[in-house]
Amino acid sequence: MLILGIESSCDETSVAIVEDGRKTIANLVLSQLDVHRDFGGVVPELACRMHLEIINPLIEQALEQSGLKWEDIDAIAVTHGPGLVGAVLIGVAAAKALAYSLNKPLIGVNHLEGHIYANHLEEGEMAIPAISLLVSGGHTSLVLVRDHGNYEIVGETRDDAAGEAFDKVARMLGLGYPGGPVIDKTAKAGNPDLIRFPRAMTESRDNFDFSFSGLKTAVVYYLKSEEGKKARVEDIAAGFQEAAVDVLVKKTVNAAKKFNVKDILLAGGVARNSRLREKMAEKAGRKGIKVHLPSPILCTDNAAMIATAGYFLYKRGIVSDLGLDALPNLPLPQCQ
Ligand code: KG4
Ligand code: ZN
Repeated sequence: MLILGIESSCDETSVAIVEDGRKTIANLVLSQLDVHRDFGGVVPELACRMHLEIINPLIEQALEQSGLKWEDIDAIAVTHGPGLVGAVLIGVAAAKALAYSLNKPLIGVNHLEGHIYANHLEEGEMAIPAISLLVSGGHTSLVLVRDHGNYEIVGETRDDAAGEAFDKVARMLGLGYPGGPVIDKTAKAGNPDLIRFPRAMTESRDNFDFSFSGLKTAVVYYLKSEEGKKARVEDIAAGFQEAAVDVLVKKTVNAAKKFNVKDILLAGGVARNSRLREKMAEKAGRKGIKVHLPSPILCTDNAAMIATAGYFLYKRGIVSDLGLDALPNLPLPQCQ
């Protein structure tokens, strides 16, 4: 079954064609980074305009690149939330128009569920049951994946998302936008043990919630201190990253043990972080837990993960009608 997926929930416009939820035939991702960089963050109005300009040519390009014809496509899957409402709306409108004109099923996909399914694409079969650490610019959650469509959020952030903390700290350090990749790179030249920032909410083994605002504030105060004024930016970046990664790793491994699962699925933009990937594999490996690491392009927003999640929804008979709406605060479905 060939599914054409569309993703436009934030600042990436993406169109993919995926066969049977597994084989990527095309996965085109157009990042708007250059447009938003000068503003130090995503400007929703600009994001919408860019999606609108690019979505149709990108759909045409995906089809052309794949060598397929419209009649070969079996269904259209699209992110319908969560995300920036205007941005999501562009993808949803394009998907509806395609589904209507081609007379093909339309599948509304939750963006967060899509991130988890990035783990299915490369491995052929997603390891289930598992604990998924879903870490992006807008979300940080620990999700117990019992089966396809059967999720339980066992922990989530009480304030900032991990990616948001990376982005804000990078701005404070004058490293630019987006913060995650630049902190990752800068930290490689720093000493992660020189400056010890707080690891919030790590006292209890049974608490899987996160808090990153205290860590961000600790960096603010450190920068104002006499020691901070003299410190190397590389060491501050490395110290911050180590604190954030320590918390993410500790809670994820504890959750895997508590829920007795042998697999961890990394998902979301922050899952690109090299230190997180390294430390998670090392700490979980010591406990006999396998860590699944989607390749970097599949961690950040892309339409292949949406097409794959859409395939599994379709297999369970979950399809949408043309009333499908953009839902900016759509939660991860806990059970379908
Ligand atoms: O999943 P994503 O592409 O978009 C959302 O759904 O939010 O994630 C974007 C986030 C940004 O906050 C970005 O700074 C972060 O992922 N990110 C990283 C890295 N690459 C991207 N954070 C830490 N290390 C990275 N290498
Ligand atoms: Zn995302």
